[in-house]
Amino acid sequence: MGEQVEIQPPQGKLGVLLPGMGAVATTFVAGVEAVRRGLGKPIGSLTQMGTIRLGKRSDKRVPAIRDFVPLATLDDLVFGGWDIRDESSYQTAVHGGVLERHLLEQVRDFLEDLRPMPAVFDRHYVRRLDGPHVKKGQNKRELAEMLQDDIRRFQAETGVTRTVMVWCGSTEVFLKPEEVHQSLELFECGLKENHPAIAPSMIYAYAALKSGVPFANGAPNLTVDVPALTELAREQSLPICGKDFKTGQTLMKTIIAPGLKARMLGLSGWFSTNILGNRDGEVLDDPDSFKTKEESKLSVLEHILQPEIYPELYDGFYHKVRINYYPPRGDNKEGWDNLDIFGWLGYPMQIKIDFLCRDSILAAPIVLDLVLFLDLAKRAGMRGIQEWLSFYFKSPMCAPTLYPEHDLFIQLMKLKNTLRHLRGEDLITHLGLEYYD
Ligand SMILES: NC(=O)c1ccc[n+]([C@@H]2O[C@H](COP(=O)([O-])OP(=O)(O)OC[C@H]3O[C@@H](n4cnc5c(N)ncnc54)[C@H](O)[C@@H]3O)[C@@H](O)[C@H]2O)c1
Repeated sequence: MGEQVEIQPPQGKLGVLLPGMGAVATTFVAGVEAVRRGLGKPIGSLTQMGTIRLGKRSDKRVPAIRDFVPLATLDDLVFGGWDIRDESSYQTAVHGGVLERHLLEQVRDFLEDLRPMPAVFDRHYVRRLDGPHVKKGQNKRELAEMLQDDIRRFQAETGVTRTVMVWCGSTEVFLKPEEVHQSLELFECGLKENHPAIAPSMIYAYAALKSGVPFANGAPNLTVDVPALTELAREQSLPICGKDFKTGQTLMKTIIAPGLKARMLGLSGWFSTNILGNRDGEVLDDPDSFKTKEESKLSVLEHILQPEIYPELYDGFYHKVRINYYPPRGDNKEGWDNLDIFGWLGYPMQIKIDFLCRDSILAAPIVLDLVLFLDLAKRAGMRGIQEWLSFYFKSPMCAPTLYPEHDLFIQLMKLKNTLRHLRGEDLITHLGLEYYD
């Protein structure tokens, strides 16, 4: 056993601020309320359903994660957010069609009370959308200040003791890191000068960090993954993480690819195609928003399979990802994967996957876990990029000198070992020789 890290107890209410109150955000919020009212179970959430093994296998110590580390409870959560449409979360959830009407009716009063604040939005960054519920400011700095005012007002009105922010807004157009992102000083000048490389999601992240609020990014946008904002997070002693919730097809990829590599099976091609018909699909129908998503989805296999280390197995494998907007399916996406693999003596084989998934149903528990773990991280004094939360992301943020870890099983081990470290428990190596001495 090592030394425990000092963690402030989770006293009082925890504010959850969501820029972008669309399908994912409302499915998350309605789901938390449904669980609180005993109408459903938080399936898919590690913080609510997961356990953690401690010590030796023979010790039989396997507490629930939520009993092992001091997390806020679901009853502690209070919600707020921003959107470009001035409609209640009830209306959005009904239009989104993710959750069934009979469930929504049972939490209707709660969802009707939840209305977004006016957004910081610019069509230049999300071209397929437009809405009237938008702030007007002289420049991006003034917009950031307005968001900081919103955060302060939310905190005062709800009486929360802590707050976290999770970007659940649309995918913005592809942006490359530029000079203005390289330091906080340049970034703050850029805000004043309305620099075009500062997207709305970055203004939210900046406002959150300035207000002492940890930030997670659920979309593939650059957002908080720039030196200026990681510097601000460290300066403010705040945890940050991102990018792009790992759901659906990429979740499958990061489950299957490590298995193929573990057995030294080769891959000559992986073709992935999707049909989806929700608003996210409509936004991704714009090639510049799709490019942001594509970059995020493509890097996964390269990193897991490491063709530079295993050229005979993975050099030059063909990888293609397509997303097709197909309105009749709504949020119920269908993802097809065709894998061309090869085995002993190079003999070819194929794997076909047809995943009829529900995007927001897979994303909602991720939002919940990120809220609770980011709050824990802040109370434990953890600051800057939280690599142990890579488990939840398609395109995990990591230190500039590292490559991201994409293998779901390594990510889970990293997450659980981080929790063991916080509580002064031995890290688990899975060596296990001691059982046979
Ligand atoms: N559902 C999933 O499985 C999944 C997985 C990974 C990533 N994501 C990402 O999560 C995000 C949300 O997905 P969704 O299905 O809820 O999409 P959605 O279109 O239903 O919701 C996004 C909301 O963000 C709002 N918005 C856009 N720009 C905004 C801004 N600047 N300020 C405030 N609000 C803004 C839109 O009006 C919309 O209501 C998307 O970026 C998506 O790519 C979703």
